[in-house]
Amino acid sequence: MIAIGSDHGGYELKNQIIDHLRSRGMEVKDFGIYSQDSMDYPDIAKPVCKAVLSGEAEQGILICGTGIGISIAANKIKGIRAALCTDVFSAKMAKQHNNANILCLGGRVTGPELAFMIADTWIDEKFLGGRHQNRIDKIHIMESE
Ligand code: RB5
Repeated sequence: MIAIGSDHGGYELKNQIIDHLRSRGMEVKDFGIYSQDSMDYPDIAKPVCKAVLSGEAEQGILICGTGIGISIAANKIKGIRAALCTDVFSAKMAKQHNNANILCLGGRVTGPELAFMIADTWIDEKFLGGRHQNRIDKIHIMESE
């Protein structure tokens, strides 16, 4: 299952990505926002990240206007590796090298077709492990220092 959430700046792209992923046969849980009313992106980053950390969702997608604020917020949560991607190569590396468990997108930056390709790439790629796992282990140590 994929958990997804956005603030008002990512609302439209969130709904488009939900439709796209469901058309691929994926299970998606929408954590909101459910209107375009202004809201604070940390308030949506938190429940989506918690769903991933608890195992309720395998991965999460977070969207704000630029993707910047919501990725900063998500990366404050221990165990979250949130990757803001605006291109397909970065999406591939975000999974292969960083094993990002949250993908962030900018609803005012990235159009829907490119966003679908970015999301598909990140979902379908596999983590390579090995030396990349060592680097992630070092990030986890930093979380406790
Ligand atoms: C909201 O106006 C906007 O600041 C937010 O969506 C995001 O882009 C912040 O990083």
